[in-house]
Amino acid sequence: MDKMIIEGGRQLSGEVQISGAKNAALPIMCSALLTEGWNTYHNIPDLVDIRTIRKLLRSFGAEIEGEGTVVRVNAANLTRCEASYDLVRTMRASILVLGPLVARMGVARVSLPGGCAIGARPVNLHIKALQDMGADVELKDGYVEARTKRLKGANIFFDLSTVTGTENIMMAACLAEGTTVLGNAAKEPEVVNLAEVLNGMGAKISGAGTDVITISGVDRLHPVEASIIPDRIEAGTFMIAVGMTGGDITLKGCNPLHLEALINKLKDAGMDIMPVADGLRVARLGNIRSVDVKTLPYPGFATDLQAQMMALMAMGNGLSVITETVFENRFMHVSELLRMGADIVVQGHSAIVKGNEKLRGAPVMATDLRASASLILAALAAEGRTELFRVYHIDRGYQEIEKKLSALGADIRRVQA
Ligand code: UD1
Repeated sequence: MDKMIIEGGRQLSGEVQISGAKNAALPIMCSALLTEGWNTYHNIPDLVDIRTIRKLLRSFGAEIEGEGTVVRVNAANLTRCEASYDLVRTMRASILVLGPLVARMGVARVSLPGGCAIGARPVNLHIKALQDMGADVELKDGYVEARTKRLKGANIFFDLSTVTGTENIMMAACLAEGTTVLGNAAKEPEVVNLAEVLNGMGAKISGAGTDVITISGVDRLHPVEASIIPDRIEAGTFMIAVGMTGGDITLKGCNPLHLEALINKLKDAGMDIMPVADGLRVARLGNIRSVDVKTLPYPGFATDLQAQMMALMAMGNGLSVITETVFENRFMHVSELLRMGADIVVQGHSAIVKGNEKLRGAPVMATDLRASASLILAALAAEGRTELFRVYHIDRGYQEIEKKLSALGADIRRVQA
């Protein structure tokens, strides 16, 4: 198993290319299940989660071609409608096949994702919405089994804003009979990217990006050629990285409009951020000011950037209160940051971070995807050497993070543990 070795204290400078968004690529690749023929997707990131979804789609009989950023998927001949525990347990987003499979094939059997490091993360809202659309849904032997002759359009209201729930039901509703209205829908840019791709396939979706999405069902969809939006979480992680180390970097290929909440906070924290052609220039000139942060569904501050922001606040000039409202147990990184000399106390859903501590390198353990990013960021600023174990978490969602950081001047390398 690999580990990362990071020697802290180097400033970052130069240019970094932002990859395609994992959380847009996953549902978009699943949308190929809704049609027959070759779909072509550009700007697909090279990540473990993408390899997992490829395996899953292949296990249904879909054909997949292409390595690198262009991937083609053809789901003309589906022979199986079951997503097994083996694949689903490694990636919760596998639940995204449920909606498209049941809409196209009339049946789907998907392992329940179960708990994960950042909380219980149930899929009850996905299930209830399919039931509202007339599907028979049963939970049996750890699997969700859904059956229907044809889904029927319905008025659905999500109790909580759910990203994959909105995506799953939006995909399912494309082939339903009649019109579906999703209330309290997630507004994330990845939902909008998926809606655009579905409309390119002949779907009739309006309102994506607002909290009411309307989908008029059609009888069939056709293949599409489409592009994945830039990864706002990867971009945000590099922006925070330069806050940790000081320096001046340019993010190429990111969309500043998707990063407003973070840009706003980082400016409050004293960073210099300005749009440039095809991206953003980000610099830290002075010290970091402590700011309070509360995670919220988009367009609020992304929970997927909370751990990284906490690493930055560990270097702030005072007290910062970081409140997590999206997931109930997303402070796994705190105990590891403490081992690096941070001063953080967790009280319920908030972490109180006393900044200005000198971070020190230490052996640390990655517990989930974004937690591992925060530990790498802390290590970049820390005095001395950090060894990060269980780096497979980071490979799920960051393409070649050590190569991108090295090119910016960081001292980071991957070795076999
Ligand atoms: C997606 C993202 C993930 C991000 C999260 C929140 C993907 C592949 N993953 O995850 O990176 O951290 O959005 O921005 O896009 N909930 C329920 N019942 C449900 C569904 C959700 O109670 O049926 C709860 C969850 O436990 C959580 C909240 O709703 O507390 C939001 O979760 P959700 O938006 O569904 O997260 P994901 O779509 O799994």
